[in-house]
Amino acid sequence: MDLIKLKKGFMNEVIIREVKEKFRARFKEEPTLFRSPGRVNIIEEHTDYNNGFVLPAAIDKAVYIGVSKRQDNNIKLFSEEFQEEHTCTLSTVERTTKGWPNYILGVVDQLLKRGYTIGGFNLNIEGDVPIGSGLSSSAAVECATAFALNEIFQLGIGKMDLAFIGQKAEHEFARVMCGIMDQFASVFGKKDHVIRLDCQSMEYEYEPLVLKGYKLLLLNTNVKHSLASSEYNTRRRQCEEGVHLVKKRYPKINTLRDVTMSMLEECVTDSLVFKRCKYVIEENIRLLAACEDLKKGDIKALGEKMYRTHDGLIKEYEVSCRELDFLVDSVRSHPDVLGARMMGGGFGGCTINIVKEEAINGLFDALANSYKKEMGLDLTHYIVETDDGSSRIV
Ligand code: GLA
Repeated sequence: MDLIKLKKGFMNEVIIREVKEKFRARFKEEPTLFRSPGRVNIIEEHTDYNNGFVLPAAIDKAVYIGVSKRQDNNIKLFSEEFQEEHTCTLSTVERTTKGWPNYILGVVDQLLKRGYTIGGFNLNIEGDVPIGSGLSSSAAVECATAFALNEIFQLGIGKMDLAFIGQKAEHEFARVMCGIMDQFASVFGKKDHVIRLDCQSMEYEYEPLVLKGYKLLLLNTNVKHSLASSEYNTRRRQCEEGVHLVKKRYPKINTLRDVTMSMLEECVTDSLVFKRCKYVIEENIRLLAACEDLKKGDIKALGEKMYRTHDGLIKEYEVSCRELDFLVDSVRSHPDVLGARMMGGGFGGCTINIVKEEAINGLFDALANSYKKEMGLDLTHYIVETDDGSSRIV
């Protein structure tokens, strides 16, 4: 374990050094460096935009940016990952077809729309959050940008609003109508803790994550489903439709958070809308019970709930896919795996597994073989630790 930690610490140092050196070489200036992490999510999905509860944690995989102020109004961006630059000015900030600049420019756009005064800047970006794997690399970029611009232009924006700015950037520039979970976790993460966030009141509590000899193992299907964002927005609309139907009889209801199963049974006859909403209502109840498991240190009970979440995501919310199901089914009765499920928006990305530390290598080798044989794809894995949220490094 110490070896893993040492290696990770070393990797972070390497990335930080690289961002700095590459920034100096490219922009002939000294950067200020910022870090914003990706996230895991222990239990539940698709509850945040329904004003429910979520239980994410920031992880030790992050986006690093170097940034410096310019004397003019130009914005010069460079992605080390894509080896691509993007240039515009403060008055020509708009969505691009390149993809990656949108997560930065979307934040700039939000700051300008909210009346903040910023100048031109240089920015380079690098990181080790795998893209499109359900670990929220996009939120990490948005939050790192918001955090950095807030600091170098001394805007005085609080952490909660930085998360909201990141979320709105995702809505308007990436066109995914996401909830607040990812940006919140990236900004507010705390090492060795998960965060129980109430997305209605935005009240949150840190719960210690004590896994006693077990680790969080992420298995990456390496599937990036092209329908993911359109299906995400469709799910959101179906939930809104459920609320709309309940509201006709119960006018005070505004979100699924306040809808009970009996209200749903009484008001919603459309079977598709019914099962989407049923999943969300049950998932909120499951999450609160899972928090009790965590408090008691009953990781076995927590793990069992993870399987039930996965089943709901397959059958009722219908956001899983055969590769994710294959991975979860392969570990369901494994004695060293306490729980597993798909994680994030769905249709690909990673599963999250709670696995006995000494069993990880053997399990991964066996799974990688069968996954290749049955799905024809390579399997990748990450052993992640929880970590702190967005910060300035130097
Ligand atoms: C994506 C979104 C989040 C959340 C999850 C599903 O990660 O960005 O807001 O809705 O999907 O739980």
